[in-house]
Amino acid sequence: MRSSKLLHIILISCFAIAVSFSIYFYMQSKGYQSKITDATSKEEVPTYHFALIGEEMDHDYWRLVGEGAKDMEKKYDVFVEYEGPRRSNPEEQLKLLDIAMKSKVDGIIVQALNDKFLPVINQAVEQGIPVITIDTDAPDSKRSAYIGTDNYEAGKLAGKTLVEDTGGKATVGIITGSYDNAHHQLRVEGFRDVVEKEPGIDIVAIEESNITRVIAEEKTHNMLSDHPEITALYGTSALDGIGMVAAAESLGVEESLYMIAFDTLPSNIALLEKGKIDVLIGQKPYEMGFRSVELMLDLMNNREIKDVYHTNASVVRKEDIGDSDD
Ligand code: BGC
Repeated sequence: MRSSKLLHIILISCFAIAVSFSIYFYMQSKGYQSKITDATSKEEVPTYHFALIGEEMDHDYWRLVGEGAKDMEKKYDVFVEYEGPRRSNPEEQLKLLDIAMKSKVDGIIVQALNDKFLPVINQAVEQGIPVITIDTDAPDSKRSAYIGTDNYEAGKLAGKTLVEDTGGKATVGIITGSYDNAHHQLRVEGFRDVVEKEPGIDIVAIEESNITRVIAEEKTHNMLSDHPEITALYGTSALDGIGMVAAAESLGVEESLYMIAFDTLPSNIALLEKGKIDVLIGQKPYEMGFRSVELMLDLMNNREIKDVYHTNASVVRKEDIGDSDD
């Protein structure tokens, strides 16, 4: 009788120990599971995946756009896949847009360089992927919004500044990024609309730089050789200013030329500081980057957004160096 009671106690104790171990291991594995879920949902797989497609990865302007957008990963539950051709190449950029669409990202932010981007943007939107244009707009497409410079107004600003600084008397040569790119067309159009009203100003030549410093220099060199009467140069794309200065220096005419160019990149600021470029039209690439991501997140969360968000474009002179945040 006594030994069966002892056996009972031993069996009950074993059962209790087994149950406690099971509960302990169950709790342990629950904790581990939730750590894995946390890690994957918070650090490895953010809720939203956006593609940002710019014009050129190896470029100070686009580096700032990318930085602005990528910085939003620290603030929000989002992964921004920032891509672009190494050197400006609209066909490659279109391919990246197509790949982003086919890989079904949650949203696409893209610089809409020219008319060829419109059908692809529309196709993405028809497939349920919202698109925001950045830096260069495609207003006739089905994109949700545009964020960037008002390129026509920025061209006008350059024109007004040139008129003021030259006292309304100048013979002008223009170096533009590309005849095919919407933003450069607008920057030239805005400029023309202002200066052509001035009887003392003539535009005598315009050439494309293909947004490279080397071609900007070559085209400026030829332009100044063919038109020694030129007294002022206007460059519409970020690397045109450096090319214009290099060509003018090689011809020994930099002192007598008035130069106005785009973008407060370090290389341009250095030329402004030395007095080789007179004025820069500053844009806000970092702001374009971060605000584009915030706008896309607004769309994801069904918050209403506007059609157009213009970032500031401003006149930057030597005395303003240090004031700009981009
Ligand atoms: C434009 C960018 C362009 C860059 C190229 C900037 O002024 O806004 O679209 O890629 O110049 O140099």
